[in-house]
Amino acid sequence: MQPEDMRRDLPITNQFIYLDNAATTPVPSPIIDATIEYFEEYCANVERGAYSIAAKASQVCDAAREEVARRLLRCDVEEFIFTRNQTQAANHVAYALEHPFLNRWDTGFKFAPPLVDWSPENKIVTTLLEHHSNFLPWLRLAKHVKAQFETITPTVEGRLLPEMFAEAVDENTKFVAFQHASNAMGTKHDVPAIIRAIKSANPNCLVFIDGAQGAGHMSLDVKALGCDFYSFSGHKGPLGPPGTGGLFVREELLRRMAPSEVGGGMISSVTADDYMLRGDHRARRWDAGTPNIIGLIALGASVKYLNRIGVERVAEHEHKLTKYLLDGMRDIPNLIVYGPKDDMTWKVGAVCFNVKGWGSYDVSLALDSQWKILTRAGHHCCQPLMRILDVLDLYNGNVRASFHYFNLVEEVDTLLEALKTLAG
Ligand SMILES: Cc1ncc(COP(=O)(O)O)c(C=O)c1O
Repeated sequence: MQPEDMRRDLPITNQFIYLDNAATTPVPSPIIDATIEYFEEYCANVERGAYSIAAKASQVCDAAREEVARRLLRCDVEEFIFTRNQTQAANHVAYALEHPFLNRWDTGFKFAPPLVDWSPENKIVTTLLEHHSNFLPWLRLAKHVKAQFETITPTVEGRLLPEMFAEAVDENTKFVAFQHASNAMGTKHDVPAIIRAIKSANPNCLVFIDGAQGAGHMSLDVKALGCDFYSFSGHKGPLGPPGTGGLFVREELLRRMAPSEVGGGMISSVTADDYMLRGDHRARRWDAGTPNIIGLIALGASVKYLNRIGVERVAEHEHKLTKYLLDGMRDIPNLIVYGPKDDMTWKVGAVCFNVKGWGSYDVSLALDSQWKILTRAGHHCCQPLMRILDVLDLYNGNVRASFHYFNLVEEVDTLLEALKTLAG
């Protein structure tokens, strides 16, 4: 499938130059068709339905979970929790790090301890490059469990290096969270090397990866990365709809994790005074109540679609467009570009910039109103980083252009022409 073929599935590309894929990627029509098919042909609740279309709904949802686990993340379906987005995935983990796990066991209905048995000298480590969704859950957790909260400062180019983690992590560090790639600097990080540095400093330290800018943009094998948790949003790189996402959890941890919600669908038996959580599909303990059936079907279809393109080709194409944009930006005066500009090794398909003398929202508004170019402006939910860059007062953040496979070199040319006009 060529980018032009994908554009035929995205009518929005006829009207706009859509460069806001790091926020949300438009959903290709075959994925929408899969959801219409559900509504028109087998609209029923999943599990326990004894009639044919309920069985079909269950089967399509089960297949979708398999597709996402195996072909997007490369993990076992038993290790994949379906979530609303990356934010919910992080909050699921934060909950289990804090709360004891209540269940009926052979020995009765009782609590098992939270994933970590916290004491005041323990440390939680994250970075100042993180999206608020991979920052606030850990900051709040640290306050709740009375642990130290330590942050790593990235390089000026927005890179996280293994040695930074080697220095921050010690025998008291129980948990580290960091991102696969940055939505506000367009950098990606050497996740396996960083995890090796963490685990050699403390083999018992749990590691959480925010893959919101990784999944769908680069080939993933979450187990090979060496992390304990990997989270993503379905509505970005994976081409699914809003309201979808996921969390990989190493199986041994998942068994001991407390779900934050309880209710129908996540138990194997209930009595007047206790319950037993389901043990057949442990990851579905996080599906209290009817799951987002439409979301699951769509996410399964989107991963199929993505695999028709080939995620390596997505990465190559975004790389080409990013390099082309960065090269073109070099000749434009009054432009401040954030993140790596020359060495593309640790760059993803997002370019952040400001135009001197313009607020970031004004640039974004002008790009839309005059050229129908859609970009994102502001702090990108990364206020700690924006404070380091010192761009909040002057620019209200920065402007971001971000790509997916359907974007074209011609669209980058239009953006470059527009920026020459605005910045010239
Ligand atoms: C790096 C990163 N992490 C987390 C998130 C949160 O994603 P969501 O709002 O889909 O939960 C985003 C969204 O932009 C992101 O870019």
